[in-house]
Amino acid sequence: MAARLPADPGSFPTTRPRRTRRFDWSRRLVAQHRLSVADLIWPVFVQEGVELETPVPSMPGVARLSVDRLVQRATEAAALGIPALAIFPVTPPERKTPGGDEALNPQNLACRAVRALRDAGLPMGIICDVALDPYTSHGQDGLLIDGYVANDETVSILCEQALALAQAGCDVVAPSDMMDGRVGAIRAALDRSGYQRTMILAYSAKYASAFYGPFRDAVGSGSNLGKGDKRSYQMDPANGDEALREVALDVAEGADMVMVKPGLPYLDIVYRVKEAFGLPTFAYQVSGEYAMIAALSATGGGDRRSLALESLLAFKRAGADGILTYFALEAARWLREPTES
Ligand code: PBG
Repeated sequence: MAARLPADPGSFPTTRPRRTRRFDWSRRLVAQHRLSVADLIWPVFVQEGVELETPVPSMPGVARLSVDRLVQRATEAAALGIPALAIFPVTPPERKTPGGDEALNPQNLACRAVRALRDAGLPMGIICDVALDPYTSHGQDGLLIDGYVANDETVSILCEQALALAQAGCDVVAPSDMMDGRVGAIRAALDRSGYQRTMILAYSAKYASAFYGPFRDAVGSGSNLGKGDKRSYQMDPANGDEALREVALDVAEGADMVMVKPGLPYLDIVYRVKEAFGLPTFAYQVSGEYAMIAALSATGGGDRRSLALESLLAFKRAGADGILTYFALEAARWLREPTES
């Protein structure tokens, strides 16, 4: 049977959203959101040693880098136009203590990495995590007192950690610990010591997520944490409104930029935070999200580039001003290719 056209084919339907989807040029013309290399922050794992690039098994395509290799890769990243990287140290197990003392050592791996990057003079921001989990033998982000991660005692150590990182030359400290009041305390500590220009990127809405597993493998904190969890300080995935409260507190305490973490499963939070505050809002596409995409493409279920770029664009659509992503270097290269994306 022949297909039947409506009685007046010229007027039905008047509005055809498919018209502008027809050509590559018209799709590009009407595209509302665009991912650019300036949106990318590259999280990197740094390890001791020289000329080492040790693959992280649970994150195919990601390696832990010795400081010299970090400088080489960061030079590439800067040349590609990536504006900033975030350093995560892999602390040798023998330097871990219950109090996380190594965090305050001005010669620790993170501080040495910062100084090496500074000396390289790259046109790139250096972001450092502030939290004790890379340094504690129990893998928690703070001090354990009577089995509880003690807030105020932890905050005073975090202030010193932030200061050590600022002294080493980092541009942005990023407290990822979720202690109450830490942003204000760190701001005051930095200001008192002459680091008024050091920025604070607050992990304001950081959830107690199962998607951090590969990261904990990569930095070696997973085995320290064991069966422990971080639910007494990281947020409950059941809560949305509480994220706005956390952001409001951090902003009042002096945060320059805020972050939501994890990313894709929490895009509703990214959207709400951006709508409510209109401040620089970042999202972290965490290790487990990366690993899912890497695994899907590795098993032939999808194209790595398409999957990664679509996921990164989704962050922009939700309102993120930037994305911390392990795809940063690859994505920067893909975005340079003259093909459609
Ligand atoms: C440490 C920290 C974590 C991540 C970033 N900073 C792990 C955690 O809180 O256990 C996770 C990042 C990722 O999974 O990619 N406070």
